[in-house]
Amino acid sequence: MIPRRTLRPDYSISRLILGGWQFSPGHHPDGYDLDEVLETLVEVADLGVTTFDCADIYEGVEELYGRFLARWKTTSAHRPIQIHTKFVPDLQALATLTKADVARVVDRSLRRLGVDRLDLVQFFWWDAQTPGFEQTGVWLDELRSAGKIRHLAVTNLSVERCRRLRDAGVELVSDQVQYSVLDRRPERTLVPYAQEEKMALLCYGGLAGGFLTDRWLGKPEPEGLRLNRSLVKYRLIIDELGGWEGHQRLLSTLRGIADEQGVDIAAVAVRFVLDQPGVAAVITGASSVRQVASTMKAFEVELTDADRARISEAVGGGYGPPGDVYDLEGDRTGRHGRIMKYGLQSGEAATAPRAR
Ligand SMILES: NC(=O)c1ccc[n+]([C@@H]2O[C@H](COP(=O)([O-])OP(=O)(O)OC[C@H]3O[C@@H](n4cnc5c(N)ncnc54)[C@H](OP(=O)(O)O)[C@@H]3O)[C@@H](O)[C@H]2O)c1
Repeated sequence: MIPRRTLRPDYSISRLILGGWQFSPGHHPDGYDLDEVLETLVEVADLGVTTFDCADIYEGVEELYGRFLARWKTTSAHRPIQIHTKFVPDLQALATLTKADVARVVDRSLRRLGVDRLDLVQFFWWDAQTPGFEQTGVWLDELRSAGKIRHLAVTNLSVERCRRLRDAGVELVSDQVQYSVLDRRPERTLVPYAQEEKMALLCYGGLAGGFLTDRWLGKPEPEGLRLNRSLVKYRLIIDELGGWEGHQRLLSTLRGIADEQGVDIAAVAVRFVLDQPGVAAVITGASSVRQVASTMKAFEVELTDADRARISEAVGGGYGPPGDVYDLEGDRTGRHGRIMKYGLQSGEAATAPRAR
């Protein structure tokens, strides 16, 4: 079974969360067999992963989870399921966003999921300089008070922006950020703040889209390969750390530890993040139940201080990429920012060119 973390007295989650991006056409342009995916979700929940992440902007995924919830109720009504969604208004819409717009998006998520109340809404605002950020947080908080949202959270927000919401009276249960053996930017400022504020960290990128798994150990640099959007993104993080050779050294180190523990690299990579102070859960994408079962072995792994030191050393000993959480990605003119999609609410295609 999977350990749980209590985020608030009335709310607990599984420490492994299944991500929903991997079910969207942005990741899966060829589509999938709906019945098979629903069965996968039921099997994953049966393993004890009861918490699922999605977003208003992951095309079709809230609806998919709505169908899953309906099926789960009929097949195994024993354990409650938690669905975390997001509220990510388009960049172009920020300056003119109204209270009614916010309510409309939240109502749409409720409808798609087929629930009366959203468990957790993770708010993101593309541009720190565009006014309306705090006001939108307050509008979301009013929807929480009205019973449409159980808990409010954020994603990819720095300490400074979390503080702005806190000062506007908005209590944040969690911040969803990239955090992995490669990317330890949260440790610069977010981890201490999150602990002080009782704000949990829900971490994506723990497998770097698959780069932190056995699949890439000993493989040549993926030049010219068609990479999915996640791999394109995490490839840039690997580049920040010095490139493919260094990444292979890290994978060999992880493999050495995985051998000692009798698990896959994925389990070691995820264990490392789970052990970090302030981390409540790791969100992982998966294309099969088998992958989830292999990653779940993280809960059987015990890393020693020496293991952690070996891993840190293999990535150069620091916090990874420069800057604070989402600094690189937040620069829309830089190479991390240029691959983002800023208008998914209004129909910008989620599928980007996949070749590097
Ligand atoms: N807030 C944000 O900005 C943000 C950004 C990114 C992600 N997320 C959330 O986090 C979720 C996870 O995304 P991620 O980017 O963090 O992905 P990830 O977990 O780092 O990587 C997932 C990929 O790794 C491979 N994989 C998974 N388990 C494996 C195993 N045991 N062995 C070998 N390969 C394995 C699979 O690749 P294949 O499918 O190729 O087999 C899978 O699609 C998303 O679905 C989304 O909910 C949020």
